Amino acid sequence: MASIIFEFVNYNYDLDGRYSVQLIVVDLAIRAAVGNWWGPRLFKLPKPTGVGANFRTAGISYISRRDFPTWHYAMLNDEPRNRAIERAIADLPLDGKSVVEIGTGTGLIALLFARHGAERVITCEMNQNLASVARQIVNATPYGDRITVIDKSSTLAIAECLIEVSPDYIFTETLDCGVVGESFFDIARDIQFLAGPNTQVLPGEIRQIGVVIQSQDMLDLNSVTNVCGFDLSALNAFSTETYFPVREQLHDYDVLSAPTILRRHDYLSNEPATSRVVEVKQDGCASGIMTWMEIEFGNHLFSNEPGTMSHWHKAFHPLVQPMQLQRGQELELTIDDAGRARACLFHMESFDRVSASAG
Ligand SMILES: C[S@@+](CC[C@H](N)C(=O)[O-])C[C@H]1O[C@@H](n2cnc3c(N)ncnc32)[C@H](O)[C@@H]1O
Repeated sequence: MASIIFEFVNYNYDLDGRYSVQLIVVDLAIRAAVGNWWGPRLFKLPKPTGVGANFRTAGISYISRRDFPTWHYAMLNDEPRNRAIERAIADLPLDGKSVVEIGTGTGLIALLFARHGAERVITCEMNQNLASVARQIVNATPYGDRITVIDKSSTLAIAECLIEVSPDYIFTETLDCGVVGESFFDIARDIQFLAGPNTQVLPGEIRQIGVVIQSQDMLDLNSVTNVCGFDLSALNAFSTETYFPVREQLHDYDVLSAPTILRRHDYLSNEPATSRVVEVKQDGCASGIMTWMEIEFGNHLFSNEPGTMSHWHKAFHPLVQPMQLQRGQELELTIDDAGRARACLFHMESFDRVSASAG
């Protein structure tokens, strides 16, 4: 009972950062039970400390109002990511230069640009919680006067002429595990509008590398059949058709092909989806394509390839139907703009394309 009350109290404390109405009711109920109306409070709760405490007590970003995904914390604690970005920024001749950033988050990247010498950084963030947190963080540093946080999407900020056109640098880190999920093409359109002939855009190329895999484990993350004797497959009408994140270390899978660059993304050139031919290295039943990224942050390459720990999971792109494959066959693979994988088998003997393939 005591622990239930404690959890309840803690929960309310976390939500509000102060005693809530429910907490007062619990407090009074316990006082009534023990006959102690005037004594000190029964719960001693630790006071939150640090910057987060200010936000909580100021009521800015407590959890009930949080409207950004929890992966922001993992991303910010991803040291290899941060290191690759900071090294790329440190390499740039930034003195007297202007930077536009799309997707401020907490303001970390804008701060890095300012710390490494940028004269002014205009950064926009479409999430209101994050934009106000970023302003608070930036203004608590010596770089506040060089950084402007706009609490709007890049598209809106451009429409309202709030962003400098033709800056020296444009930076964005708005990539999800499958590259395109955070509106890649909308951001590319905005960057193409903003970039001048001498603007350098970071990241440069983002390569999406993939292997064909056989994995019942990964299929089970996206479909269901009989459970406890009941046919639940009607739920599969809602299975993901494009891709979803997987931690490959947690699942059994067999790799059926060599790693191949399946798509090259670049904010300045819209390379259309083209098919790539991959050779099947091992017999098996292909369930889907597992992809990861190689991101060019200036001269620094970041990869979340298998075996590395990164807040970016791998992306699993399920095939419409599993495909039986034999070693030596060739597959044409395409990742479309939505991140959907299509596979088409090439018949080696007759060179006829087998159209009844997945996708
Ligand atoms: C992956 S986070 C990166 C945050 C920060 N740049 C960093 O690297 O630490 C991307 C952020 O961009 C924001 N965002 C995505 N698309 C945007 C757009 N078109 N305009 C403004 N913000 C955007 C999201 O709300 C999210 O906070």
